[in-house]
Amino acid sequence: MCGIIGYVGYENAVPIILEGLKKLEYRGYDSAGIAVCGRDGFDVVKQKGRLDALEARLEAAPLSGHMGIGHTRWATHGEPSDANSHPHVGSRSKIAVVHNGIIENYQRLKARLEQKGIRFASQTDSEVVAQLAETCYDGDIMETVVKAVGRLEGSYALGIMCLDRPDTLIAVKKDNPLIIGVAAHGLFIASDVPAVLRHTNLVYYLNDGEIAVLNKDGARFYSLDREPLQKHPETVTWSLDSAEKGGYPHFMLKEIMEQPKVLRDTVQSAVSGEAKAAADSLDPARFDKIVMTACGSAYNAGVAARYVFEKLCRVPVEVELASEFRYKDAIIGEKTLVILISQSGETADTIAAMREANAKGAVTLSIVNAVGSTVAKETAHTIYTLAGPEIAVATTKAFSAQLALLYMLAISFAYKLGRLSETERDALTDEMKALPGKAEALLGRTDEIQHCAAGCIAYKSIFFIGRNVDYAIALEGSLKLKEISYIHSEAYAGGELKHGTISLIEDNTLVVALSNCERLAPKIMSNAEQVASRGARVLFVGSCAPAEMGDRMSVIRLPAAHELFSPSLSVVALQLFSYYVAANKGLDIDKPRNLAKSVTVE
Ligand code: G6P
Repeated sequence: MCGIIGYVGYENAVPIILEGLKKLEYRGYDSAGIAVCGRDGFDVVKQKGRLDALEARLEAAPLSGHMGIGHTRWATHGEPSDANSHPHVGSRSKIAVVHNGIIENYQRLKARLEQKGIRFASQTDSEVVAQLAETCYDGDIMETVVKAVGRLEGSYALGIMCLDRPDTLIAVKKDNPLIIGVAAHGLFIASDVPAVLRHTNLVYYLNDGEIAVLNKDGARFYSLDREPLQKHPETVTWSLDSAEKGGYPHFMLKEIMEQPKVLRDTVQSAVSGEAKAAADSLDPARFDKIVMTACGSAYNAGVAARYVFEKLCRVPVEVELASEFRYKDAIIGEKTLVILISQSGETADTIAAMREANAKGAVTLSIVNAVGSTVAKETAHTIYTLAGPEIAVATTKAFSAQLALLYMLAISFAYKLGRLSETERDALTDEMKALPGKAEALLGRTDEIQHCAAGCIAYKSIFFIGRNVDYAIALEGSLKLKEISYIHSEAYAGGELKHGTISLIEDNTLVVALSNCERLAPKIMSNAEQVASRGARVLFVGSCAPAEMGDRMSVIRLPAAHELFSPSLSVVALQLFSYYVAANKGLDIDKPRNLAKSVTVE
């Protein structure tokens, strides 16, 4: 979703902001813009399309200034166009604004401002903020910001410049992320850490209802009552390299390849590091049920983990899409553990689900990748996944880290509940420790998977089937494929095939059959035969794929792993499969159309 970057300092803001915008591209966008405080007013360039187009315009007519704001826009209110792009400047050219979020009462505010004779230049909700701030402005920019945000309903992360204060950049937020970066040559506001990593790893995480006032020598923080606040910067451990492609053609491939390390770090942290300490602070005997809630791939991680928790801990587990959980009046209370799973920690529905769970007195635990994110801050317990920055829109390594952490948590809970002996716990932990090596071996076979994917680009529709944990990974494999290759795809529990889906099978439909559960392998084989006899081609993916198969069938054979933990390997194979299908189609793999990495609006 929209990305914000702002700079005030000793250097020219324009190249710094452009480079920051490139680092925010992964969030998803369809237009971009930049404004600097120039000698005679704001200089603004806004451009529909990719950043290259904005860059070309800036090359043709260069801008410079020591303070500026930039924005990548993912259209919500108003089509992608130059006019609707940010920054938005008020009609009196006094105040310029970049915004991430949705102003829910914008129509009402806009109507009132129009009655006062203000003419709007765009269809966006965001322009209302600039126009409203200008009508509130009486020479005191802090007072103006306080008054204006007091009238906004909805969510916002705002970067604000006032022409009368060409040395002061202001930021304020509610329900959308903003960080403040502190470098030797100046200060930054940004939607996310990778945008500033080239300059600094010292950041403040802005909380809802806090105002940051930045000039080139430092940052001051205030409450909305204008009371000064003491905040302490944090040092981010992510390296700049981790946010660069490092020689790979796409971030997605790089991130797929990083998974053995991510798995190793995650298991290590759960055995003797911070994840262990966090798990130890929870007493599973307190809970009569566990609810996992999340969106997208993080939800699929919950679906896989449910099988493991229920099998090992014998505790009932529900998995809910956060967008459904938040509105269903969930039956939860102090004996419920609600696990929020999120890479970004900023997904709007996951945040709402978390707040609902907190309000109902449930114990909340987050499994989050982004340090300092809203979900991490507002849950009672947090365990960080150690995936590092993930840039490709389609998640890979963060998903793997979520899975591994949840498995380790299930092992720890089962042991504490007396469901596993020490020996059994250690044996399962050893199985987990063996996963990174097996993932490495699998990643050494990219040629084979690439070859297989090359033969699949012409399919109009691809179905994924599996049973038990393989069903969970079928969901994730199918999501990955449709996200980046734009091939229609659905996932089904193998047993459900005959209840409808089989009617869609015809000559040369591809069915990907996951088979990693020994005891269920014959069932999946019979599903495969049923579709093959109706003309489908079947690609088995798994360690339990049959040794002998018909000529309409082929296999990507996976290393054997404990049945419960096999998703950590099968997902890697399916990520590579999707990646190579999309690569063969020549698509924009890291930034698939219409998708955003961090979905910060409903
Ligand atoms: C978007 C991303 C997905 C991600 C989902 C949930 O749809 O494209 O990759 O799984 O949001 O995001 P979260 O940050 O909460 O894990």
